[in-house]
Amino acid sequence: MRLTILGGGGFRVPLVYGALLGDHAEGRVTRVTLHDLDAGRLAAVARVLAEQAEGIPDAPQVTVTTDLDEALTGADFVFSAIRVGGLAGRAADEREALAEGVLGQETVGAGGIAYGLRTVPLAVDIAQRVARLAPDAWVINFTNPAGLVTEAMSRHLGDRVIGICDSPVGLGRRIARVLGGDPGKAWIDYVGLNHLGWVRGLSIDGRDELPRLLGDPALLESFEEGKLFGAEWLQSLGMIPNEYLHYYYFNREAVSAYQGAVQTRGAFLHDQQSRFYEEMKDPAAPALATWDRTRAEREATYMAENREVAGVGERDACDLESGGYEQVALSLMRAIARNERTTLILNVRNRTTLSALDSDAVIEVPCLVDAGGAHPVSVAPLPDHATGLVCSVKAVEREVMAAAESASRATAVKAFALHPLVDSVTVARRLVDRYTREHPGLAYLNRK
Ligand code: G6P
Ligand code: MN
Repeated sequence: MRLTILGGGGFRVPLVYGALLGDHAEGRVTRVTLHDLDAGRLAAVARVLAEQAEGIPDAPQVTVTTDLDEALTGADFVFSAIRVGGLAGRAADEREALAEGVLGQETVGAGGIAYGLRTVPLAVDIAQRVARLAPDAWVINFTNPAGLVTEAMSRHLGDRVIGICDSPVGLGRRIARVLGGDPGKAWIDYVGLNHLGWVRGLSIDGRDELPRLLGDPALLESFEEGKLFGAEWLQSLGMIPNEYLHYYYFNREAVSAYQGAVQTRGAFLHDQQSRFYEEMKDPAAPALATWDRTRAEREATYMAENREVAGVGERDACDLESGGYEQVALSLMRAIARNERTTLILNVRNRTTLSALDSDAVIEVPCLVDAGGAHPVSVAPLPDHATGLVCSVKAVEREVMAAAESASRATAVKAFALHPLVDSVTVARRLVDRYTREHPGLAYLNRK
């Protein structure tokens, strides 16, 4: 099996490679091709991977290239984990929104729209190349905003593109753990869009244990989301939201905390990673140890600002353990390549799952995965307030795709203005001005 990783010079690539190293079964990935636009970053990550592979006889062979078509040709799986505009772009997405008094965040609200507007044209180009050069390949999309980007790619690849995220599985694991169940065996009833979903049930041995959790405030406030949202609000909702819903339910608090922060998350990571890639320029630097140290620092500060707002304190050590998105990616590949049937929460086309959305809308939902791909499992309908949010945000995503396709500034303004976390059309216009000034990748938005 041949796996191509786009964004192969990215900081999280060693996590994926580490997961592959643990797979010794027949039909595993034997060749990994890393593609990136930046040869220096590719070289740095390749060095980390080489150290990871030391002493492992069946370690997948790694090659690197800066030629996209070469990377795609002959691939069985393509992981797309690109970051258009880099972390400097992410920092600008966050900063400009906060300067207008609205949420500045990687994937939610104005920041996510700006990121989507510059990513969709490239994601579509990649999808078209895959369709031409590797028509049988499966594309696993990590690129954020993951739901929107997966939908844009699915217009060219159909169900051969599947989006992944580690947040639903992390949430399910935390809930199962507080309920005393085996996270690997629990069935999680979860649905929504990427970074906009809710757990409505969690069955252990066929019994829904969520009512027990919702009825016990102390148990509820013993884990991340319980602390973040508070037992009372979770009891009112009767569901456990994905942690990203904090930006909707506590928007004012999140905006003012971010405005008061010394640095945005993107700016922090930008500084930190620039240092990592700089250190890697020294051929004597221990690659894996340097990567590990940088990663530990990164994890320790994960969503620190949000936790401060909610008075949550440090994230539990068990939440930092590996097994996030790289395990989702590996399980997905195994299920498809070896027909190892499994259930995973993935971003796929809706079909008839949520009746408020059309069948091509990409949603995040438990799926049965086998050699034929990912098939969404039918779930109970969402309450009206959640359906309302899902429909509003999906409408915004569609405006982003339309703006990317038509290069229309007016459509981009519409995308910002219709987002529930952008409270004025005037602000939306100013955001488009700010972002087009800031991002060369948005220069295309000038036509109409
Ligand atoms: C989670 C989300 C990703 C997001 C990341 C941000 O893993 O699922 O979609 O990109 O958090 O983490 P970072 O460390 O980059 O702020
Ligand atoms: Mn995610």
